[in-house]
Amino acid sequence: MTGRSAPRHPISRRQALGLLGLGAAAVTAGATGWATLGVSDTTRTASVLPSGEPLGLPPELASRQGQLAVDLTAAPGASLAGRPASAWGYNGSSPGPTLRLRPGDELAVRLRNGLDQPTNLHTHGLRVSPEGNSDNPFIHIAPGETFDYRIAIPDGHPPGTFWYHPHAHGYVADQLLAGLAGALIVDDAPEPAVSADRVLLITDTTLGAGGPAATDPATRMVGRQGELLLLNGLHRPVIPAASGELQRWRLINATTSRTLNLHLDAHPLTRIAFDGITLPTATGVDTVRLAPGNRADVLVRPDRPGTFPLTASTEPRRAMGMMGGPAVGGETEVLATLTTSGPARAPSALPTFPPGPAPDAGATTGARRLTFTMGMGGGMGPGGTGSGGQGMSFGFDGRAYDPVRTDQTVALGAVEEWTVSNPTPMAHPFHLHVWPFEVLADSAGTPTTGAPQDVVLVPAGGWVRLRIPFTVLPGRSVYHCHILDHEDAGMMASIAVR
Ligand code: C2O
Ligand code: CU
Ligand code: CU
Repeated sequence: MTGRSAPRHPISRRQALGLLGLGAAAVTAGATGWATLGVSDTTRTASVLPSGEPLGLPPELASRQGQLAVDLTAAPGASLAGRPASAWGYNGSSPGPTLRLRPGDELAVRLRNGLDQPTNLHTHGLRVSPEGNSDNPFIHIAPGETFDYRIAIPDGHPPGTFWYHPHAHGYVADQLLAGLAGALIVDDAPEPAVSADRVLLITDTTLGAGGPAATDPATRMVGRQGELLLLNGLHRPVIPAASGELQRWRLINATTSRTLNLHLDAHPLTRIAFDGITLPTATGVDTVRLAPGNRADVLVRPDRPGTFPLTASTEPRRAMGMMGGPAVGGETEVLATLTTSGPARAPSALPTFPPGPAPDAGATTGARRLTFTMGMGGGMGPGGTGSGGQGMSFGFDGRAYDPVRTDQTVALGAVEEWTVSNPTPMAHPFHLHVWPFEVLADSAGTPTTGAPQDVVLVPAGGWVRLRIPFTVLPGRSVYHCHILDHEDAGMMASIAVR
């Protein structure tokens, strides 16, 4: 049994359970709720997820009087959406709590590492300092240790949808696949009222005994994907709505490898923000495309009673071109179901959301070229011995990540045009910390959003051209592929802005 199916015939729950290698007994157990079962043929323990439950939201922690002080413990034995599971989570849950902040706030996180491997915290997309005990990806917190983060959200930080996840090089994909991720929302002045403002955090997972299931180098090369696609830790939840309502969905692609195309049956999705930045114009779209790490805020305006699947199509990936290697992706799955009640009504009016900061208009002061490296054979420097397997080389410009080396040095105040090229046979999501970029063009002619973003998919055999203002926030940070098995294997590099 496979996960493949045509868009109109998404996999059934029974098939989904089959993906975990469970038999009929497991299906029965699953029907009564959540069960943890030993699976004799794989010696794995899999948690069986029921489907069709009402959507739950992760617990929410909001700042008060300019500060949000939270204790977060990253540890195994976490529940998924409030039920016991072998996931890894923050404070016992996956996704972890949603953190709500305002511009000018301080985020004080005491992170305790309850895992048996290093971890740390990255505030993906936030325009905050990468130095010291702020959003510093070079920090590694050893097992059993605690670290105090102090992250100052600048005044004037744009409101929007961001997220947090671990960033300890070599361990990121495992930790994300096991469930360590959470939403981070920046709120500003009151925005148009909506009847529901929902975080919809998408993860995928394969639960093994006590954590992520084991894998092999070939699978890491193409980027692992979990067998079950989850929304807020739930398998195919129901999103309730009433006809005539206006809902805001904050979609976060927190999967380790999947580029997702999201489609809601019979309703356009009105895209109002991308990567946390409110777009100059709201656009009704049939499909929202999210590379790993991307976010989109959409408005949904149900106008009649019914049941409407929200589907997710995973773009296919093949690491070795046409010549071999595993092909992954290509399936379409039901992510959730919008269930609308009440008599048919005219769709609610579209409010106007104040647009976020426009791309920096200053003169370009410099240019550079970066090239993804992925292939067989040696030639990689120190640090190339990540989890990618022997003889595989992942990196940029022929070099694997080395935390000590600084790969790019940029003068504070520069506005640069970067061409990121990808001679490899698969698309890579390029991500830069701290300094969002404007996408000028790519080799596939993908329409641009007109707003800064922080992850862009670089087409296989193609390129993207970016314009990056380095006008604020001096410090040293990283850029990398957001297929996190690639990042862990060395497809990351460092940048210092001084
Ligand atoms: Cu979400 Cu460095 O990543
Ligand atoms: Cu990031
Ligand atoms: Cu990659």
